[in-house]
Amino acid sequence: MTKCLETFMKENAPKIDKTLHALIDELSIPSELKKSMIYSINAGGKRVRPLLVLATLDDLDIQLDDAYIVACAVELIHTYSLIHDDLPAMDDDDYRRGKLTNHKVFGDALAILAGDAMQALAFQCLTRTASLAPTQQVELIRLLSEASGAEGMVGGQVLDLEGEARSLSVDELEAIHVRKTGALLSFSIEAGAILAQLCDDKKGQLKRYAHHIGLAFQIKDDILDVTSTTEQLGKPANSDEAQNKSTYPALLGIDGATEQMYARYEEALDALRFLEKEDALLAQFAHYIVERTL
Ligand code: IPE
Ligand code: IPE
Ligand code: MG
Ligand code: MG
Ligand code: MG
Repeated sequence: MTKCLETFMKENAPKIDKTLHALIDELSIPSELKKSMIYSINAGGKRVRPLLVLATLDDLDIQLDDAYIVACAVELIHTYSLIHDDLPAMDDDDYRRGKLTNHKVFGDALAILAGDAMQALAFQCLTRTASLAPTQQVELIRLLSEASGAEGMVGGQVLDLEGEARSLSVDELEAIHVRKTGALLSFSIEAGAILAQLCDDKKGQLKRYAHHIGLAFQIKDDILDVTSTTEQLGKPANSDEAQNKSTYPALLGIDGATEQMYARYEEALDALRFLEKEDALLAQFAHYIVERTL
């Protein structure tokens, strides 16, 4: 019987939340730093990236307790990236996940340091996967460092900021989205493939899926920024226009952006054919990404 993604998310999101909370709570660290880290980790993100790690494994019919810790590692990097993304020096946003942004509550210095600490903790987590072979651990560390670093998310964020000063072509914008958002989403799926010890051919198909849902995810984020309200999003609507960002809707209009997003969705589904599963969780995930309202 096929699994329903909604049920899968409802079952697994609380486990991810609990593991993340415990990972920070057990640290012997300055209490303000702990409060700042817990504040953002408990703020209730959708947990898309960790759920993608788990959904990939489930579609490959693999069960592995250590998958939760790998899932938490990518959510730690993601949450750190959001804390920094909201800083006055970057997107200068006051709300995130329905609450004041980290720097608004704890100040810029602690927000920066909480992000830094989450980044380091993510890599520490990957070494705490006792059931994995050392080669798998090293591969995960290599991939996460690439996805989160200068060639991945951080590089994408730099290009995004540079883009505020000029208008970009769609190709340039795509290259930014692939790095700033696609890289971490792709890590989630590739991590699932590594945990499942998947062969290169199939891994290649999953990477293709990941590339397309990564783009679709950020195109949808750009669309929601102009079509939703701040209350619905839990973060300021129209932030992109306020910061003079190049986005898919700004370059192509809502209809053009939506068309691009669905083209990515179709490509993503096509890449999943090797699974030979009707209603694979990853196929439902792609649908969720393009239909979400948050
Ligand atoms: C927002 O990511 C930032 C982007 C990369 C577009 P999410 O939409 O996954 O944010 P949370 O984690 O649910 O708050
Ligand atoms: C953020 O993109 C991407 C990363 C945090 C890496 P956005 O700036 O569009 O994300 P939101 O809209 O603030 O969540
Ligand atoms: Mg940004
Ligand atoms: Mg932002
Ligand atoms: Mg956005």
